[in-house]
Amino acid sequence: MSAVPAVEISSLVKRYGSTAAVDGLSFQVAAGTITAVLGPNGAGKTTTVEICEGFRRPDDGAVRVLGLDPWRDGAALRPRVGVMLQDGAGFYPGARPVELLTHLARLHASPLDVSMLVARLGLESLARGRAPLRRLSGGERQRVALAAALVGRPDLVFLDEPTAGLDPQGRRATWQLLDELRAAGVTVVLTTHLIDEAERLADHVVIIDAGRVLAEGTPQELTSGVSDDVIRFGGPPRLDVGSLRAALPAAATVREVAPGSYEVTAPVDPSLLATLTSWCAAQDILAEGLQVGRRSLEDVYLELIGASAGRTAP
Ligand SMILES: Nc1ncnc2c1ncn2[C@@H]1O[C@H](COP(=O)(O)OP(=O)(O)O)[C@@H](O)[C@H]1O
Ligand SMILES: [Mg+2]
Repeated sequence: MSAVPAVEISSLVKRYGSTAAVDGLSFQVAAGTITAVLGPNGAGKTTTVEICEGFRRPDDGAVRVLGLDPWRDGAALRPRVGVMLQDGAGFYPGARPVELLTHLARLHASPLDVSMLVARLGLESLARGRAPLRRLSGGERQRVALAAALVGRPDLVFLDEPTAGLDPQGRRATWQLLDELRAAGVTVVLTTHLIDEAERLADHVVIIDAGRVLAEGTPQELTSGVSDDVIRFGGPPRLDVGSLRAALPAAATVREVAPGSYEVTAPVDPSLLATLTSWCAAQDILAEGLQVGRRSLEDVYLELIGASAGRTAP
């Protein structure tokens, strides 16, 4: 693996009017890895990758892509970098998918085989027909855009929500293709709001919200940095979580994550479990489906995003 990062983002700032969509963001992408930029809608994911793609200019901070400045060195980067915009945007709506891909392939020195890509992405039925992009479903357009990002055999690809709107088979096919790209040494940067996608695919996950990095690491690092376990149980809705909180050790948190669905986060030991079940008994509640588990990336993510929303709320 090269010591020079494929992408280096330092103290990046992008403002739209008085609001900062990207607010001092820094992270690096190691060559030959898959990095997922994970965050809710409006977190600043698209703005960040579009700056890396040279489509938007930063207000402050710096971005290096393959050692170059994407705003100035676009001509040098274009043959080496594949780009898939959000919603598969960016193509003439009258273009026919296979003609488009064949055309793009001709612009590159050693393109991938178009019919192989078409088959891998389940686009054969489109290849037989002559429908232009504007007649395709959203998911089909997305897959054409993914193929267009990959056809030039890039060293680095930026994929903005590549599986949004895809059916489960489409998602799996995309994931497998991205695994293979990594195996072939391609660097992949993707954005997603899907926690399972980040967990399944990424070597490195950067969780962002409100234009800032909240946490980053491998999925394992993100979930093991905290020693807390989580206890989940079901019961009647609107239990007095404050009273349960008060009964438990100070480090515990209690949340009703959905009506009638409770989560206690704490370092779990037998005495804590006993306290919990006796509190339930005192309320005449049978804790249904009670289970103790390690925190998942989803738990970590929801907690980070929740805390971030708390800080930025007016
Ligand atoms: N061209 C623009 N003009 C004004 N505001 C924008 C523009 N693009 C994005 N924003 C705002 O910046 C924030 C971040 O947007 P975006 O980068 O698209 O986030 P994400 O991709 O994570 O959903 C949002 O609040 C969005 O409304
Ligand atoms: Mg976006």
